[in-house]
Amino acid sequence: MPPATSSPVLRRSRDEAPTPTIRPAASSDARAQWREAFHAVRAETERRAAPLSVEDQVVQSMPDASPTKWHRAHTTWFFEQFLLLPYLAGYRVFDERFAFLFNSYYVAAGPRHARPRRGLLTRPDCAEIAAFRAHVDEAVERLIVGADDEKLSEVVRILEIGQQHEQQHQELLLTDILHAFAQNPVAPTYDAAWRAPSARSASREFVDLPAGLHSIGHAGDGYCFDNEGPAHQVYLQPARIGRGLVSNGHWLEFMAERGYATPSLWLSDGWAAVEEEGWSAPSYWRQHDGAWHTLTLAGLQPVDPDAPVTHVSYYEADAFARWAGKHLPTEAEWEVAARQDLIDDAFGVVWQWTRSAYLPYPGYRAADGALGEYNGKFMVNQMVLRGSSHATPSGHARASYRNFFYPPARWQFSGLRLLDYV
Ligand SMILES: [Fe+2]
Repeated sequence: MPPATSSPVLRRSRDEAPTPTIRPAASSDARAQWREAFHAVRAETERRAAPLSVEDQVVQSMPDASPTKWHRAHTTWFFEQFLLLPYLAGYRVFDERFAFLFNSYYVAAGPRHARPRRGLLTRPDCAEIAAFRAHVDEAVERLIVGADDEKLSEVVRILEIGQQHEQQHQELLLTDILHAFAQNPVAPTYDAAWRAPSARSASREFVDLPAGLHSIGHAGDGYCFDNEGPAHQVYLQPARIGRGLVSNGHWLEFMAERGYATPSLWLSDGWAAVEEEGWSAPSYWRQHDGAWHTLTLAGLQPVDPDAPVTHVSYYEADAFARWAGKHLPTEAEWEVAARQDLIDDAFGVVWQWTRSAYLPYPGYRAADGALGEYNGKFMVNQMVLRGSSHATPSGHARASYRNFFYPPARWQFSGLRLLDYV
């Protein structure tokens, strides 16, 4: 059953973004607020897992996707490894074997189970994972309550990384289970109350982007990941950016004009993917009774021409832009447009591919230690997506947020907007 809420699981404000909601204000009851924030994040993971059966939670449909049960355990291991072991005196590890099973990619934290084999872990079972979560929750609460003021500042620094990390996995939990459901001929439903995100505008209008020097990257208060800085200046050429997201209707025009069958529109690697994977429409689209349908979190639904296209790869976004005679924006162009409120649906609908490679900003250096592996070591061969999707937890994204995936990836809620040069 879906969670008992009055609204679909994923509803959030389209405009929401720059204000992190999981960082309490500094005050005398900061400990209580941090406890509350921590529990809110942990509860949201469980809320998203709640509609899923034990069988659902074990399956891994591809190496890039992880089982729900694994997400629940890995996010818990993260707190145990990086917060409780270093900072809570006398902490008792829940199960010594779990570090091997639930470490994702932190080489400095020790050896780990192979990623493509996560779906083979029928044990520990879901009940044991629930007990693991409860064990860690209790210990984190004890740590927050018992830390003196000096220690608390360091504790909350790691705590906040853990919370933001868990929020990232909350989105992955949904994209991964949707991919698993897409392999199932009966097209399962995650949440019957879910509704496709409605864009504020399906406008094909372009708006002026101010040329010249601008600052991008995170500055000031509020949480950010290390890859969002340092803030720095960029120079923008005169350009116009699409006010709205590219819609399914526009994508259907691309398909009707043989976009998927015209090699000249595609990057070489993209065309190879078209041929190898047999792409002829966005991921999860299928013909049913002569009409296009798409598998959503609410099951198989007719494709709405006014809704933003989603589940397209960078290669497809790039080919579409070429077909349209336009470009994808760079991440700098996107960020300036978002900061100046020039575009609709920057946040909360679909992530938007940019044509920027995921690279370190000028002066960026990853931190020492295992947590330095969080972002920096992935800065090659991937492309940046900006904004956020309807599956992004409330308050998680912001104008400087940099998401990144490999160019063929299609299982995220990834769409696009266009840009043209003047
Ligand atoms: Fe992770």
